[in-house]
Amino acid sequence: AANDAFVRDIPKVELHVHIEGTLTPELRWKLAQRNGLKVKFGNNGPELHSMEELRYAMNSAEPKTEDEEREFFFASYYGAFDTLKTKQDYFELAMNYFEHVASMNVRYCEVFFDPQGHTSRGISWDVMMEGFKEAQMKAQRELNVRCSWIMCLLRDLPPEDAMDHYKAALPYRDMIAGIGLDSNEYQRPPLLFQEVFSLARRDGFRITMHCDVGQDNTHEHIRQVTSEMGGNGADRIDHGLNAADRPDLMDIILKRDIGMTICPWAYMRYQTYSELGPKMRLLFDAGIRITINSDDPAFMDDAWILHNWLLTKHFGFTDEEIVTLARNAVTVSWASQSTKDDIM
Ligand code: HPA
Ligand code: ZN
Repeated sequence: AANDAFVRDIPKVELHVHIEGTLTPELRWKLAQRNGLKVKFGNNGPELHSMEELRYAMNSAEPKTEDEEREFFFASYYGAFDTLKTKQDYFELAMNYFEHVASMNVRYCEVFFDPQGHTSRGISWDVMMEGFKEAQMKAQRELNVRCSWIMCLLRDLPPEDAMDHYKAALPYRDMIAGIGLDSNEYQRPPLLFQEVFSLARRDGFRITMHCDVGQDNTHEHIRQVTSEMGGNGADRIDHGLNAADRPDLMDIILKRDIGMTICPWAYMRYQTYSELGPKMRLLFDAGIRITINSDDPAFMDDAWILHNWLLTKHFGFTDEEIVTLARNAVTVSWASQSTKDDIM
């Protein structure tokens, strides 16, 4: 347990977590009661009558194929958005995350949000952003956790919708460090979104994109992200673990010093368990700056950043290597130099 204390106490930076993916069954139940809403699984699932039923539905242990697992995740994740209505709801969503990770010694985070999943339900930008902003200020003041935001665009929606949301976000640009691309990757290559990401790059935003494991065309998606998006490639890649299969992709990542946000627990749901340790090791040993993150902790067995960090010990990373992993996240973060100096 002495070793676990080392992992627990090391100052951490989280660079890949979806704020909507931190909506626990407890908080969702509370918000639904307060807003007078029924709780369902997915968009059209049966009504759930207690927090226990909700938790059970979210953690279905039915064996699934990779496709079924992905479909189950997205139904569960997007189906939970409807309980978020007021500025107070957004504030509590973010505070709940900050409180969880403060106890795990996270000092700084760059947190994804999916505005299209909120505006499509009639939520105003002010409600969403002001709730987030208040939580961000309180977390810095009272928990010593600093934060910036990454606006993610949903790749399963049309590029025009991404562009509209990009423009609508500009009044809040002080809060936003970068622009990301997430949601279902199936037949949605990054280059479909080149126009909005090139514009974001010209406007001075950092850019990053998801290339998850178990996706078709994964190597071509990684190639587009690392060498073409925004002009000559993104600043970071989210996941991208499959780059370990291809020396040419590893080469680009290394040469351009592109940070990778790895979320080990998330991949274990896709039967990649035996490949996970060796692939992380290959990337790390090549000198690529991989980092450790949680993705959607409330939807992935309640595994938060600390649980993901504990897996690195399991995969044989030494204490010294764990320090390197922690420094990687500081280095590839988009924090100011003075914040970076403060963290480490
Ligand atoms: N994958 C893709 N998009 C997402 C995810 C994920 O795990 N979580 C939230 N948006
Ligand atoms: Zn993600």
